Amino acid sequence: MLTESEPPGLDAIPRERLPALLRTMPKAELHIHIEGSLEPELIFKLAARNGVALPYASVEALRAAYAFSDLQSFLDIYYAGAGVLRTEQDFFDLAWAYLERAAADNVVHAEIFFDPQTHTERGVPISTVILGLAHACRRAHAEWGLSAKLILCFLRHLSEDAALATLDAALPWHEHFIGVGLDSSERGHPPEKFASVFARARVLGLHAVAHAGEEGPPAYIESALDVLKVERIDHGVRCVESAELVARLARERMPLTVCPLSNIKLRVFDSLSEHSLPALLAAGLCATVNSDDPAYFGGYVNDNFVQTFAALPALGAREAYQLARNSFEASFAGVAEKARWIAALDAHFERQASSGG
Ligand code: ADE
Ligand code: ZN
Repeated sequence: MLTESEPPGLDAIPRERLPALLRTMPKAELHIHIEGSLEPELIFKLAARNGVALPYASVEALRAAYAFSDLQSFLDIYYAGAGVLRTEQDFFDLAWAYLERAAADNVVHAEIFFDPQTHTERGVPISTVILGLAHACRRAHAEWGLSAKLILCFLRHLSEDAALATLDAALPWHEHFIGVGLDSSERGHPPEKFASVFARARVLGLHAVAHAGEEGPPAYIESALDVLKVERIDHGVRCVESAELVARLARERMPLTVCPLSNIKLRVFDSLSEHSLPALLAAGLCATVNSDDPAYFGGYVNDNFVQTFAALPALGAREAYQLARNSFEASFAGVAEKARWIAALDAHFERQASSGG
């Protein structure tokens, strides 16, 4: 049984102890694109292994190209980077590298996006993608008890027919993913373009999420809810432009998977100190903190937490607890697992509150 109360003594935890508290608290990560965790070092290693020529002379030169003006300028370089992924071993290595970083950040549960169309369009079989990623997820659970699940995303700049064909092609490996998502270029590609494929996924018993309200308007959040019937909104930060929508998201306790460093790198906000996360929490929304594409945006989930809290004085120990708790509540894990993680979270904060330093 989950209780609504928070552990006592949160106000007594001083600000200088926040970075350690944020790093050590158990958490779930719900918005991470596995292709966005492909570090430049691994791009070079896989390019050499697969005989792929890169248009950059060094890791440093590639990293220097990571200066983005908006979502599309990032996506162009992100899809190019994924071109080095060819074999099942490559997909295993990619996911394993992320899961090692996640475990180090005290992530106990991860729901990981992958973009099969980015690979099948290059001739990589969908089985290669799914089996490599799923192998790493299984091993992380066996070795560290880290629970890792996959969510298959459709690229919204492509057609709905292409999304339907992708879902069909993935069905023989159905047991390896828990849901479907919608990502890539948001503007001009509203959620309702994908009504049929999401309806089909729901009939198949898959969970549904969608990116909405990152660069797109609040109306895209509404159609993701009303037409696609998603269970979480990825990003969703532009909801603050509609008071009615904010009230609805709070009333329905609809989770938002917020990615602060991504929002700065893609110029959704000018700086972390202007981020709307405190307003979302104050409005009672089930917001969570995530890394999105950590290899491209300068940090994994703990970097997102620590840098965002450092920039925003309104965020303290109470908000840290709420965000971690929201991450478990918003996950697609079972009731018993959620209760176990929340009990561990409560115990962690109780120890911190009583230790005094
Ligand atoms: N694919 C990877 N990262 C993304 C983002 N932030 N928005 C939309 N599509 C993405
Ligand atoms: Zn994303």
